[in-house]
Amino acid sequence: MAQPDRVRALYDRRARRYDTVVDPAWQERLRGDLFGRARGEVLEVGVGTGATFPHYPANLVSLTGLDVSEGMLELARGRAAPLPFPVRLQAADFQTLPFPAASFDTVTSSLALCGIPDPALLFSEIRRVLRPGGQLLALEHIRPPNPLLAALADLGDPLYDHFVGCHFNRRTPELLAQAGFAVTVVRRTFFGIGVALVAEPITNPDREAR
Ligand SMILES: C[S@@+](CC[C@H](N)C(=O)[O-])C[C@H]1O[C@@H](n2cnc3c(N)ncnc32)[C@H](O)[C@@H]1O
Repeated sequence: MAQPDRVRALYDRRARRYDTVVDPAWQERLRGDLFGRARGEVLEVGVGTGATFPHYPANLVSLTGLDVSEGMLELARGRAAPLPFPVRLQAADFQTLPFPAASFDTVTSSLALCGIPDPALLFSEIRRVLRPGGQLLALEHIRPPNPLLAALADLGDPLYDHFVGCHFNRRTPELLAQAGFAVTVVRRTFFGIGVALVAEPITNPDREAR
């Protein structure tokens, strides 16, 4: 289970070298496809060092970024300085969101949903803080569609969670659909493991992930 204290310690330790060792090209392509869709007032959960910043449209009303690691936020602050919209970066555990209902037009996440212990709780929080017509944009690695790779991901997941602090076999599109989002996978890459998702809250949560 990725508790905030453990995640904070993991990322404070790896912050300085995060951008050099954890930034494969497929992630950057997905960020490029996805975060240009953000609009209005945006909340990014698990903002890290600010890898998404160059991909946001210049006309955002504002960006609020949450992260539990001060080490990661320190680097994000440097990257935020030249952005043409107001940016507020806040050290917080994003599992419960410290905002009133209907505060944001877009919630974004890049590689941050895979570590949380209770996805259903976070997804209901995201629904709560989104305004009507709002959207969640998420770049994630998910359980591989290939059965052999999926079995390997299941086998290696406890070790991956221990050392990296996230799950290698998380079924994020299905979990979002169960939480009442209409989910569209706008791009898959890297054997279908890397996905760019748009998820919109629906009033009739019978709809499946496509
Ligand atoms: C894999 S990094 C992704 C960073 C960045 N979004 C990117 O795309 O490079 C995950 C980030 O989520 C943060 N994080 C994980 N769980 C968190 C939580 N419960 N509350 C706040 N931040 C969290 C970590 O500190 C880390 O910065």
